[in-house]
Amino acid sequence: MLKLPLYLDNNATTPVDPEVLQAMLPYFTEHFGNAASRSHSFGWVAEEAVTQAREQVAQLIHADPSEIVFTSGATEAINLAMKGAYEMYSTKGNHIITCTTEHKAVLDTCKHLEKSGAEVTYLPVNSDGIMDLNLLETAIRPNTILISIMTANNETGVLQPVKAIGTIAKAQGIIFFADATQAAGKIPVDVQADNVDMLCLSAHKMYGPKGAGALYVRRKDPRVRLVAQIDGGGHEKGMRSGTLNVPGIVALGKCCAICMQQMNEEVHRIGALRDQLEKGLTQMKNVTINGSVMHRLPNVTNLAFAGIPGNKLLTEINRTIAVSSGSACTSANPEPSHVLKAMQLNDELAKNSIRFGLGRFTTAEETEYAIDLVKKVAQNL
Ligand SMILES: Cc1ncc(COP(=O)(O)O)c(C=O)c1O
Repeated sequence: MLKLPLYLDNNATTPVDPEVLQAMLPYFTEHFGNAASRSHSFGWVAEEAVTQAREQVAQLIHADPSEIVFTSGATEAINLAMKGAYEMYSTKGNHIITCTTEHKAVLDTCKHLEKSGAEVTYLPVNSDGIMDLNLLETAIRPNTILISIMTANNETGVLQPVKAIGTIAKAQGIIFFADATQAAGKIPVDVQADNVDMLCLSAHKMYGPKGAGALYVRRKDPRVRLVAQIDGGGHEKGMRSGTLNVPGIVALGKCCAICMQQMNEEVHRIGALRDQLEKGLTQMKNVTINGSVMHRLPNVTNLAFAGIPGNKLLTEINRTIAVSSGSACTSANPEPSHVLKAMQLNDELAKNSIRFGLGRFTTAEETEYAIDLVKKVAQNL
């Protein structure tokens, strides 16, 4: 039975998987201990759970558990990675390279660092949303200390050439930070194979709760050092103080374990539903796909509806289907998406674009319903 409204905004956030909820619940009640309490069993039980979660997160991205720093989510991890590296390596240089289509968590952190004296190069993308590796190479200077490029874009799902960026960064001895918030758990992510030095992820994009995330910080070849942004009791090897969110961390670990186990199946199943949705909607003459069709996440499609006022389209669709025009963080902003504009869409087409984000719990029946409804709304407008 179809249950309305439908949820097709899984890039904004995902529902908590019931298995994840079951895993975290005991850590609110009988196992409520503080993971830093070393002298009694309540603390030991909590610490053991955190240790297991650290292993689960590390496994998903091919890291060592000692390289995982738990945070409150990807935004905090991004702030720690970028501000922490900028402060730590300030004697080496002040130049950062990023990309115009990054999430606001990265772009706003860059703006903050610019006020503290950083020089930031914002690399453009082509009309597919992909950055140019030659431009990256020519942007590198002797004082470049950090390259920050996302693995997958949150509005279009477009994948950046992370492996090639990692190779360039390694050859030049520059730290490479990848925002993998949208990619982790959806497609294979391998910090070793890709020479990624820092990477962030977030539980609520992987069928876990809001308020839990992690930063991977490489410990060998090279050892990345960061200046902590939250000081306190020296938790997380001094990189992020504060009592650990044990239920959230347990949930994040469980999310990673489930995603690892189900990834192959989900890539195909969710990818097929996305293709079905896309095929159905692009049958309309004025509907086109924004971004690379070859290099993108399997669960998302961003569609431009030429000639149909985007705000009206969105309002009508949102009566029965939760979709968005782009990032949830900027959904109150009437300005056209900075990501689509960077891909050379004009303001009007950028405003007439909608992101459809499918997920673990999306069904074929829901997809068919969405095709029919969106077609009907679009034709009426
Ligand atoms: C690519 C990307 N980076 C960072 C974030 C921020 O994540 P969080 O909500 O965990 O702070 C998001 C979430 O919207 C995202 O999609």
